Amino acid sequence: FKVPAVENEPMRSYAPGSAERKSLEAALAQLEKELPLEVPCVVNGKPVKTGKLAKQPMPHEYARHLCTYHEADQATVAAAIDGALAAKGEWEAMPWNDRAAIFLKAADLVSGKYRYKLMAATILGQGKNAWQAEIDAAAELSDFLRFGVKYVEELYSQQPPKNTPGSWNRVEYRALEGFVLAVSPFNFTAIGGNLSAVPALVGNVVVWKPSPAATYSNYIVYQILTEAGVPPGVIQFVPGPPEEVTGQAIANPNFAALHFTGSTFVFKKLWKDIAANLDTYKGYPRIVGETGGKNFHIIHQSAEIKNAVMQTIRGAFEYQGQKCSALSRVYVASSIWNAGFKEQLLAEVAKLKVGSPTDFANFIGPVIGRPAFEKVTSYIKKAKDAGGEILAGGSADDSVGYYVQPTVILTKDPKSVTMAEEIFGPVLTVYVYEDTDFEKTLDLIDTTSPYALTGSIFSQDRKALLQATNRLRNSAGNVYYNEKCTGAVVGQQPFGGARASGTNDKAGSMSIFYRFVSARSIKENF
Ligand code: ALA
Repeated sequence: FKVPAVENEPMRSYAPGSAERKSLEAALAQLEKELPLEVPCVVNGKPVKTGKLAKQPMPHEYARHLCTYHEADQATVAAAIDGALAAKGEWEAMPWNDRAAIFLKAADLVSGKYRYKLMAATILGQGKNAWQAEIDAAAELSDFLRFGVKYVEELYSQQPPKNTPGSWNRVEYRALEGFVLAVSPFNFTAIGGNLSAVPALVGNVVVWKPSPAATYSNYIVYQILTEAGVPPGVIQFVPGPPEEVTGQAIANPNFAALHFTGSTFVFKKLWKDIAANLDTYKGYPRIVGETGGKNFHIIHQSAEIKNAVMQTIRGAFEYQGQKCSALSRVYVASSIWNAGFKEQLLAEVAKLKVGSPTDFANFIGPVIGRPAFEKVTSYIKKAKDAGGEILAGGSADDSVGYYVQPTVILTKDPKSVTMAEEIFGPVLTVYVYEDTDFEKTLDLIDTTSPYALTGSIFSQDRKALLQATNRLRNSAGNVYYNEKCTGAVVGQQPFGGARASGTNDKAGSMSIFYRFVSARSIKENF
């Protein structure tokens, strides 16, 4: 068998009056009617109501909550791990074509039957506007699942090129011994699905702890995977207090791998906890993580201004700057800055409408929660205190939702705090460099932050592109020429970075699947 050819899910436009806009509006209205929802843990396919209740508030109207969910307690996590291990034998023995069919069906459910419901949950629960929800919960999630199937097929076909006469060499890509812990973030519904599906696609069993701020959308993803045919126990859904769930999973001797997306701080902590338990495990756990970024644009003197401005706006402010890939520092050649970049940038920022993500007119919605709101506003204050000039925005309003105005800060200090530290909000800091200091500015980009996730170079001059690409060899795992540094597409730009940004195992590519298999070579003599 060969699995069918796969394509990226076409993006819908949600134009006023369009059928898709009406469908999404209806899904939003339906979800509003059902509020607040109740989400259980799910262990071995059965809902578990622990009675330890927590809430997922809606960031645009935090007085209301999208769901109440049952946090996993110790007994639930223990049952999830045991149940996963019990489900493992049958799951890894399932013929590949049947496993593939399950995930292809899941992709169709995401892009078809559940598209608008999942988007509505992402809009209300995670504060994305319709287009950001479309990119994430509809397109990227179905792409991860479909391309995942294709990549696993490709992985399984990687076989030794040589056999001696009378023998046959082959490699079997077995699932890991034990279970995989998936810990997913709030900012992409698609990542929740990907972190659990990637290990499961190659026959692993997974204990999945979603982000508290994405509980409901992730629960729908879990239900979709189940409806598509993932058997009970193969993926266990255990929302809960992060440290308790992950702590208990990592303390288990059958822990085999961590598949993580989230903060650098938490990832390092988990890594250290894993190291502390190393002697208790059967093997060396695989650790795969994608963490933060301090992503950059450099606008060379040869750049095309209008494009550089528009890409800068989108990179910095889409989804309120809460993508790990979001742009947060821009280095602009002074000739470009003075030839219209500044003026156009500020004019475009002034057009961005801030407000509820349920209103299609709004470009910018709320940040995810109270701690995020406080962190982002404190960085704006720090920048001001350090002498940064607020060119746009700077204010915030948390009376109803967690709204921060799109903010542009001009700094004379290229190493100032908002040029160096991750903020995860709609805050962009600009440093204007002398045209003659291009090389020096590349050094600054490389040395100012510990991260290396994404970056873009804007130039019409091939020599400048090459110079920047060479100097920034280790500064970003995803580099773009004349395009914003966000929006990697599955199957097109494998995504991930090194340094403090992660293990660079490239989501949306074949290479990540290698991390969740343990290969066995077999030589047979005839
Ligand atoms: N993969 C997402 C992007 O590239 C985070 O924006």
